[in-house]
Amino acid sequence: MFRRHRRLRKNSVIRDMVRETVLNRNDFIYPIFVTDGDNIKREIPSLDGNYHYSVDRLHEIVDEIKEAGVKSVIVFGLPEHKDELGSSAYAEDGIVQRGVRKLKELYPELFVITDVCMCEYTSHGHCGIIHDNEVDNDETLKYIAEIALSHAKAGADMVAPSDMMDGRVSAIRKKLDENGYKNVSIMAYSAKYCSAFYGPFREAANSAPKFGNRKSYQMDPANVREAMLEIEDDIEEGADIVMVKPALPYLDVIRLARDKFDYPLAAYNVSGEFAMVKAAAKAGLIDERAVAMEMLTSIKRAGAGMIITYYAVDICRWLKEEM
Ligand code: PBG
Repeated sequence: MFRRHRRLRKNSVIRDMVRETVLNRNDFIYPIFVTDGDNIKREIPSLDGNYHYSVDRLHEIVDEIKEAGVKSVIVFGLPEHKDELGSSAYAEDGIVQRGVRKLKELYPELFVITDVCMCEYTSHGHCGIIHDNEVDNDETLKYIAEIALSHAKAGADMVAPSDMMDGRVSAIRKKLDENGYKNVSIMAYSAKYCSAFYGPFREAANSAPKFGNRKSYQMDPANVREAMLEIEDDIEEGADIVMVKPALPYLDVIRLARDKFDYPLAAYNVSGEFAMVKAAAKAGLIDERAVAMEMLTSIKRAGAGMIITYYAVDICRWLKEEM
């Protein structure tokens, strides 16, 4: 005797019925890059099909998002001005702050998340304040909290610290609460690895470090127990959602986090993961749509309840077609 597994694969009705993991448009968060300047819609060479938008042209991507049925975005900024202290990151009229106001004006129901970090705004490209050639953790916390507050003031629904300083979640929570933003939530990039998969993003956001690397603050790709400690601390400090990033090379970390913590879990399907699929598709090696679907299904199957991906708009369109 043997079990006939193939009975439940006989046709699409029964396959659909026994499917364990189903993607839907609630799962996806789309990254948006807002740039200083006017009348700009500039293709991002490293992220095929994604663009830099100036505030006055944000409506173009908002229309696409609406049409596809994407419900949530994460905003990144490309400022004109960079300095040692990343001052345009927390300026009231900074690029993210203006972008968020515009997004909320164009589409009030859109759930707007902001990436809270300093690397796009500092002249040295590191995620914090430099003292003696090192990123000073505790000094940086003051700035990170100010950035988060300025995003909340602009209308962000959720802030997402990606700097990897210790104690940032409690610093942000305290700052938001003291200023009357108790209902602005925090999605912490908790287990953020020092990954080579961020290359295309750093080109897109012009945020590569000018000296050294990020190994003294982002996690070692070899570690998984440490990731659980990072997540545990962020939960204790008041994060509402915790994240593992990147996604595809870290599915084991996602699965362990899912099993260990009864907490909302996000994963970031990062730029390098996206770019690899795009490049292979362009070379005619794979079926882009099928591979993208499979990749995102595997991230959800591993345990991520929500996924940040440059495929969000495409995926939501494809899911609509399948309905
Ligand atoms: C900012 C930040 C990065 C990413 C998200 N937020 C880059 C980095 O840490 O260098 C990467 C996203 C991606 O690769 O898609 N710190």
